[in-house]
Amino acid sequence: MKGFKHFLMLVILTFPLLCSPVTAFAAESSSSSSSSANNSSQVASNDSVEKIKQKGTLVVGMSADYPPYEFTTKKNGKTEYVGFEVDLAKQFAKDLGVKLVIKNMDFDSLLVALETGKVDTVISGMNITNERKKSVDFSDTYYAGDSYFLVNKSDKDKYKSAKDFDGKTVGTQNGTLQSTMVSKQMPKATGKGLAKISSLVIGLQSHKYDGVLMDAATAQAYAANNSNLYAFNSKLSATAGGIAMAFPKGDTSLVNAANQTVAKVKKEKLITKEWIPDAAQYMESYKKQNTVLSYWQYFAKGVGYTLIISVVSVFFGMILGTLFALMRLSKNKLLHAISVCYIEFLRGTPMMVQIMFVYFGIGAIIQSMPAIIAGIIAVSLNSGAYVAEIIRSGIQSLPAGQTEAARSLGMSKNETFHYVIMPQALKNIWPALGNELITLVKDSSLVSVIGVTELMYQTQLVQTTTYKGVLPLFITMIIYFVITFILSRVLLYFEGRMKHAH
Ligand code: ARG
Repeated sequence: MKGFKHFLMLVILTFPLLCSPVTAFAAESSSSSSSSANNSSQVASNDSVEKIKQKGTLVVGMSADYPPYEFTTKKNGKTEYVGFEVDLAKQFAKDLGVKLVIKNMDFDSLLVALETGKVDTVISGMNITNERKKSVDFSDTYYAGDSYFLVNKSDKDKYKSAKDFDGKTVGTQNGTLQSTMVSKQMPKATGKGLAKISSLVIGLQSHKYDGVLMDAATAQAYAANNSNLYAFNSKLSATAGGIAMAFPKGDTSLVNAANQTVAKVKKEKLITKEWIPDAAQYMESYKKQNTVLSYWQYFAKGVGYTLIISVVSVFFGMILGTLFALMRLSKNKLLHAISVCYIEFLRGTPMMVQIMFVYFGIGAIIQSMPAIIAGIIAVSLNSGAYVAEIIRSGIQSLPAGQTEAARSLGMSKNETFHYVIMPQALKNIWPALGNELITLVKDSSLVSVIGVTELMYQTQLVQTTTYKGVLPLFITMIIYFVITFILSRVLLYFEGRMKHAH
């Protein structure tokens, strides 16, 4: 029996790992209308262009944290992808006669996404390297540049070359050429990796890193738009070619199509003459309005989602809780056992894991399930377990005499429960239920891990777009506090009313 239980646990816990590749962790991009890009890209074929045309969409993977290549900007409170590679992607889709879908994910997930067919191509400032050529095919190059260090302007005189970082900490984006360069060519520096360049820049400004190594254009873009930062050439040698689009191995016809687009773009000098200046303009106007408070719409949207998740989950949590409490108290052995298993299991596993399990596990079966539904299901299930225990304790806290008296007055079992037991139990457990409700509002922040745009998710978005680490967190803390404080006052009011009624 015990062995079987262990086996069951193992199966349950490893299930999401088995059904979802690493890329599944990529944040949901707001513009990815079709996420089911299921062209079986591993199959080497020359009909890759045909397939794209049939599908009607070109799904492009990028890590939109890399101005002027690709980054996000805010238009009427909405996030939009811009940058010269976004223009290139648009051009490529147009040449193919299909719709462009951008999937924004971490740089180190891009090649996995390509290999598993989640995206058709990667256009993300990616240099051609021998290592990468083993697993993907590249188009012709359309851009090139050295690697630059980005440092705090106050340290401008301290750091002049790669050598000056001996004994210091250098940040790089995970999976990039630069992270290999630091580990191979700067053995005396401590290399630190993060998924997003924007997070590295926040870290740099709070002196968690002494410098961040990245492509020249990006370092210069950051320095040009933030007077506290400074960029300079690392003079490190890179054993890499220029920047190109990446494709699944064998997608020869698609590579050829890309080369045609690239040739045209190069001939007309579109990148340097039009697209980079456009990108610079976006950065410029962006900088002006880039204060944390100008992002109030983001916070407002987050609060909306947090409230929706909380309210809906409380509702289902209460229903589930009542159900499982009654099952647990039931004389029926099977119902009792089911309820005990449910409660113990949900209380005994982290909510974060449950959320990811529901999202990736059930999501593998029902592919179109939106993250918010997964989040609500997970939070409701979790809350149900706690509410069940609260309700059980409330019912059990009543002396047996209550039931006996009611029954001897001629009330039916149901009537006794409805009119005698429940009202008294509810009064006793009210504070505990209130506690659960407040916990739920706070814990709903965990669903940000699956990309639900609730308050915590929005906070992280504001952090990475404003390069301010602390202020957005502070604002969010206050917002959560205001919500829970109002809630607890309301609950207290009802508690008083119930005492009166008694
Ligand atoms: N050029 C570097 C590389 O190929 C870094 C590219 C990072 N791109 C990005 N969109 N963050 O590894």
